[in-house]
Amino acid sequence: MNRAGAPGSQAARLTDPYSKGMVSKDLPTERERLRLLERDSDPQTMEILQGLPVKASWRCLDLGAGAGSIAYWLADRCREGHVVAADIDVRFLDHARPGTLEVRQFDVGRDEFPAGSFDLIHARSLLCHVPTRDTVLAQAVEWLAPGGWLMVGEPYMFAADTSPYPPLQRFYRAVDERWIAQGSDMRWARRLPGLMAHAGLHQLGVATRPNCMGLGGVHDAFALASIRQIGDVMVKDGDITQAERDEMVALFDDPMFVDVRSVFITVWGQKPVT
Ligand SMILES: C[S@@+](CC[C@H](N)C(=O)[O-])C[C@H]1O[C@@H](n2cnc3c(N)ncnc32)[C@H](O)[C@@H]1O
Repeated sequence: MNRAGAPGSQAARLTDPYSKGMVSKDLPTERERLRLLERDSDPQTMEILQGLPVKASWRCLDLGAGAGSIAYWLADRCREGHVVAADIDVRFLDHARPGTLEVRQFDVGRDEFPAGSFDLIHARSLLCHVPTRDTVLAQAVEWLAPGGWLMVGEPYMFAADTSPYPPLQRFYRAVDERWIAQGSDMRWARRLPGLMAHAGLHQLGVATRPNCMGLGGVHDAFALASIRQIGDVMVKDGDITQAERDEMVALFDDPMFVDVRSVFITVWGQKPVT
């Protein structure tokens, strides 16, 4: 089913910020960047999922499945059920993976599932970039079966100007302008707990994780991969200079550099049985 304009229409373009620009899968570094995102985020996501009563028979949906790690993890646990890995661009997903996984090309801004289709719906780092995010959240609750669980995780980005590092201020001011221009909302995560409560979900849980740059490890690897990729696009598009991009990257060589750019907020809750 489809609830917006035809492909190529203004409505379709607005719901498809990933097809072009800073995080497009056309970019040669995007696959590796998504893998680093998974290595950075999966431990916390999996820990929360392990606290839910996931059954082998469950029907699960991973919205905006990206490079697939969470969908694959669910498919390994729901061997008598069905797991849909849905993404607007499915090229990084394994279409031939044996078992209960189904890869589906799906635009959350346009497409729908029948009501009551899933026992678990997961979405991570997706809705902040989808202009119709409030509607999609309400739709996801509709797609849950009674007793089903919704789990959504999004970054809350701190204002660039509050960083103590001028190169970071300059770089992320430009990034934030790009996000706003394409309809992203990098502070929407703050609203998630309240939105999910008002959507009627109960047994709500909330977890936060600081995304701290400068401490090394996999988060720095992910942050640097992102900064290099989006920095190159912004230099090409004239949003920043090459020197501004390079100064941002060079911060990671400064032993005194440490900054919390964002906090990742994950919220989960259950749809009442009746
Ligand atoms: C930042 S990645 C996150 C991937 C994965 N959820 C993770 O956390 O590892 C966002 C993903 O959402 C997908 N996406 C963006 N807009 C979408 C839309 N309107 N409908 C479905 N998927 C979308 C992108 O193609 C991309 O794979």
